[in-house]
Amino acid sequence: MCGIIGYVGHRTALPILIEGLRRLEYRGYDSAGVALASPNDVTVTKSAGRISALEQIIDVESTQTTGLGHTRWATHGAPNDVNAHPHADSSGRIAVIHNGIIENDRALRTYLEQHGVTFTSDTDSEVLAQLIAQLYDGNLEKAVRQALHEVSGTYGIAVVCADEPGVIIAARQGSPLIIGVGKDEHLLASDAAAILAHTSQVVYLGDGEMARITPNELRITTLEAVPVAKEVEEIEWSLEQIELAGYDHFMLKEIFEQPAALENCLRGRIDLREGTVHLGGLVDCARELVRAKRIILTGCGTAWHAALVGEYLFEELARIPTETEYGSEFRYRNPIVNEGTVVIAVSQSGETTDTIAAFNEAKQRGALTLGVVNVVGSSLARGTDAGVYLHVGPEIGVASTKAFTGQVAVLALIACFLGRRKHMSPTAAMQFITALSQIPTQVARVLERADDARKVAEKYQQRENWLYLGRGYNYPVALEGALKLKEISYIHSEGLPAAEMKHGPIALITEGMPVVVIATAGSQYEKIINNISEVRTRGGSVIAIATEGDREIAKMVDHVLYVPDTLEPLQPLLTAIPLQLIAYHAAVIRGCNVDKPRNLAKSVTVE
Ligand code: AGP
Ligand code: GLU
Repeated sequence: MCGIIGYVGHRTALPILIEGLRRLEYRGYDSAGVALASPNDVTVTKSAGRISALEQIIDVESTQTTGLGHTRWATHGAPNDVNAHPHADSSGRIAVIHNGIIENDRALRTYLEQHGVTFTSDTDSEVLAQLIAQLYDGNLEKAVRQALHEVSGTYGIAVVCADEPGVIIAARQGSPLIIGVGKDEHLLASDAAAILAHTSQVVYLGDGEMARITPNELRITTLEAVPVAKEVEEIEWSLEQIELAGYDHFMLKEIFEQPAALENCLRGRIDLREGTVHLGGLVDCARELVRAKRIILTGCGTAWHAALVGEYLFEELARIPTETEYGSEFRYRNPIVNEGTVVIAVSQSGETTDTIAAFNEAKQRGALTLGVVNVVGSSLARGTDAGVYLHVGPEIGVASTKAFTGQVAVLALIACFLGRRKHMSPTAAMQFITALSQIPTQVARVLERADDARKVAEKYQQRENWLYLGRGYNYPVALEGALKLKEISYIHSEGLPAAEMKHGPIALITEGMPVVVIATAGSQYEKIINNISEVRTRGGSVIAIATEGDREIAKMVDHVLYVPDTLEPLQPLLTAIPLQLIAYHAAVIRGCNVDKPRNLAKSVTVE
C-alpha cells in the first residue's frame, strides 16, 4: 500500500527522503509529502499527485538532518493536498506520517474537538497528530505511547517534533516498518526498497513495538515501555526483488496478498457478537436502500463478473430484484430507471469511462447511486451518493485479482447489511458472517496448494482453446477464469453456465481439450457431475475445482484443485483463486508480459 521513509543522521535529509519516496512509487499512491524538523519548527510540504509535483514546491535548499516522507494511498478522505501526509498538530510543532487505518478516529476526533482542537483534514491520521500534541509535555516518546493506548486499528507511524529535532519516534501495529542502521545515521521505512541504497543492515519492528531513533541510538520498547532486544539483520535481496517483495510479478504478489487484503476489507465491518454488518458509508442512505424495488449493478470486465455474483447474493439474501448490466450497454439502451431503482457501480479504479457513463445516466434519471470502489477519491467514489470501499490496497497488475475477491466480499457485506434490515434472521446472518470471517484464512489455505495449479498450466499451456464451466454462484467465476486466461496468456477461452454447454459449445470439445469445471459441494453438485461426464465422453480433459474431502471426484476427472468448504454464496471467494493461478502460470510459461499484457491498460478511461 502506501509508503513511509524517515531519516535521522548527519546528512541532509531531503534528498534521501525524495529518493526513498521514488523507490516506493511502484506501489501506487495518490499524494506525497515530507516533514523536516529543526529546532525552530517542523516544515511540512505535501501535494496530491506524483513525487515530481512535490519536488516542484519543495525548498531544495533545506538542510535539516531529520525528516519524514510519505506516499499516501487514501482510505479516509479524498486524495488532495490537505489530506496528504505528513499531518501536523495545530501548533505546527509535531508532524506525523501514518500508514493504515485508525478505526476509532470518529470518537477521538469528537473528543479532541470538544477540547478545542480544530481539524484541517478529513483523514483518520490527523487524529494521531492532534492527540499526541494534546498529550505532549516535553517528552515525545511518552506522548506517542500514551496516544497509541487510545487508538484502535492498524498503523505504521513516524513522528517528529520541533522541540526534539534529532529524534524520530516510530511504532507499528499491522503495517510494516523497518529501521536501517547506518554509520551515525538511521533510516526508517515501510519497505526495504526505500533504504537499501544506503544500508542493508536492518532491524524489523514488530507489532506492538515502538522505536526511539536518533543518529547514534536505536531504542526499541513495547507499547508498555518494556525494552526489547533486537538483532540487526542483513537484507540479502536486491532492490528490484524487494519492490516485488520477492515475487516475479505484481499479479502473483497480488494473488498472494489476498488473505491480507480480504482481512483488511472485512476489518471493522463484521460484528460477530450482534450478528450484523457495519458499513459506515451506507448508514445515511440505509432507509432508502432497504426500500429499493430494484437494484442494477454495473461494471466492466472483472468488476462485471463480481457484480454478477452480487446479483445472486442480493436476490438470495436481501430478496431485492437485481440485474447486472455492462456499463457500456446500460448507457446506450435507454434504461428503465424508476423510482426505487438503486444503481451500484463496481470498479477497482473508479475511473473506468464506461462505468462512469452508466452511473451518470442513472444519476440523471434520479436513481440513488452507490459505488463499490477500490481507489479512494476516484471519480466514481466522488460522484456516487454513497458507497463502500474495498480497502484491498493498490492493484498494479493489469489483470485484476485481489480487487475481484474484494468486490465480491463487499457485495456480500452489502447483501447481508440489506438482508438483516429486511427478513434475514439473526441466526442466518450469524452463520453467513461467521463463514465470511473465515474466508481470509481459507484463501491462505488455497494458496498453500498453488503448485497444483502451476502443474495444470504446465500440462495444458500449448492448448489454444479452453472452456470454463460453473453453475450458480460459480458461473461468474467461470467467466472470470476464462477472462484471466485470455487477457494474460492470449489463449482463447470461454466461460459458460455449465448447463449451456449442451446448447452449442459442446461442439467445440475435442480430444484433450482442457475444460475447467467448478464442481464444489452444494445444491448443484450432482448436475455438474453430469456435465463433467458429458465432457469426458467427448474426450475433453477435465480440471475440477472441488471441495476438500471430495475423493470421489478424483476418479472422474484428470486433475483436481481443492478448496476448503464454505457456504455456497461465498464459494467464489475461494474458487477464483486456483483459476487466477492457472492463468498466471500459463502466461509465464508462454513467455507473456504478465503485468502489462498486450493491448490492455490498467484503467480504461476511453469509451
Ligand atoms: C481485469 O482483469 C481487467 N483488466 C478489466 O476487465 C477490468 O476489470 C475492467 O477494465 C474494469 O476496471 P475497473 O474495475 O477499474 O473499473
Ligand atoms: N488512513 C490514512 C489516510 O487515509 C493513511 C492511508 C495510508 O495508509 O496511506 O490518510
